[in-house]
Amino acid sequence: MKKKPLTIGLFGLGVVGSGLLEVLKDSGYPDAVIRKICVKTPGKTRAVPQELLTFNPSDILDDPSIDTVVETINGSDDAFDIVSRAMRQGKNVVTANKKMLAGNFELLLNLQEATGVSLLYESAACGSIPIVRTLEQHFGTEPLEQLSGIFNGTSNYILSRMFDGNLDFDTALRQAQQAGFAEEDPASDIDGLDAKYKLILLTAHSHGMILSPDQVPHFGIRHLRPEDIRFARDRGLRIKLLPVCRRTGPGRLAVYVIPGLVGDADELFRVDDEFNGVLLQSDYSGAQFLRGRGAGGRPTGSALLSDLLSLQQGYRYAYQKHRMNGSTVLDDQYKLRIYARAPSEIPLQALPFPSPENITRDGNTYVIESEVTLSHLGRQARWLQENEVFVMRML
Ligand SMILES: NC(=O)c1ccc[n+]([C@@H]2O[C@H](COP(=O)([O-])OP(=O)(O)OC[C@H]3O[C@@H](n4cnc5c(N)ncnc54)[C@H](OP(=O)(O)O)[C@@H]3O)[C@@H](O)[C@H]2O)c1
Repeated sequence: MKKKPLTIGLFGLGVVGSGLLEVLKDSGYPDAVIRKICVKTPGKTRAVPQELLTFNPSDILDDPSIDTVVETINGSDDAFDIVSRAMRQGKNVVTANKKMLAGNFELLLNLQEATGVSLLYESAACGSIPIVRTLEQHFGTEPLEQLSGIFNGTSNYILSRMFDGNLDFDTALRQAQQAGFAEEDPASDIDGLDAKYKLILLTAHSHGMILSPDQVPHFGIRHLRPEDIRFARDRGLRIKLLPVCRRTGPGRLAVYVIPGLVGDADELFRVDDEFNGVLLQSDYSGAQFLRGRGAGGRPTGSALLSDLLSLQQGYRYAYQKHRMNGSTVLDDQYKLRIYARAPSEIPLQALPFPSPENITRDGNTYVIESEVTLSHLGRQARWLQENEVFVMRML
């Protein structure tokens, strides 16, 4: 029997919202009709008919003829308001907003249960890479040892420019901004937060654990210096910003985001520029690797389009891993061997690492190595960031 087309209310008409309109038009997909588009700022020139536009969310949320909401706005509080109101009104929702999802995961899971509607978010984690669906459907019951990868295109672009173009951090960041890969305020990308939000979404599907952002330590690349690049290059290695969810024992997970050294045999070694990659280590099928564009209007639009097709087919996430592994706990005693570069004004004794080893002085900085637990790293994260210490995981 032919299903009726989805009637869609779209929130946001920026990079992602416009990308969706473009791929909908380009693909000729007949089963999705955009009824209304809600935006924020009056007076902007927009490439859509005026009668489609509104500035009032209720024009979509209270319209019973609209059965599907696509949320592509750039704020997380407003987005949570829109998404939860839409779900309570019985509308299915597709969203690209990882910050909103990661910050409200438990609530949104409960809301899906209570309302019976479907909430899909393939585009929110690694853009065009079909990783949520892969974890949900293909690995829905197979245990995974590890999920890791490169989830943030901006920081990966900066790292690639520093390695291949010999640029310093500020110049590489400016190039990323000029190329449209970094926001004017790049903090969330370069400090590891964006990668952490995506890791939280994927951990729910890969290992069944629902986490909130404050449970996951994150470190970024803001304080990376050319000396750190040289340290990696001299050893034939590269530095990547690595989100990791690792099973450390039965029902125990280590979950963190930290720059790390990567060797030539690692698939992530050659994931460069704005590309993303996801590495899975699974118990029955072994290693799997997915690589693709993590951002941009059309790649993200492609993931949204795929979610719409899934909705049309009556799809909902089953959260099978969460049902099976609901009692999983965090292993905050998991140990990492780390490298830290600190400005020389910081006395060695003030550096919050037990038994620093291999201390080397280098200009106006020094480097130490140490073995630390995740719990210790998490507690010291803010101090290290404020004191401009660059931290990365050794191989
Ligand atoms: N950019 C990417 O490649 C990418 C990839 C994956 C996921 N995402 C996620 O997708 C979302 C959108 O990103 P983007 O890059 O498309 O942002 P963007 O280009 O800045 O566009 C944001 C849009 O949201 C609208 N908006 C903001 N607040 C609103 C509100 N309260 N009500 C209605 N409309 C509102 C803005 O309206 P005005 O036009 O009136 O200002 C604008 O059209 C974010 O959550 C982002 O994290 C982005």
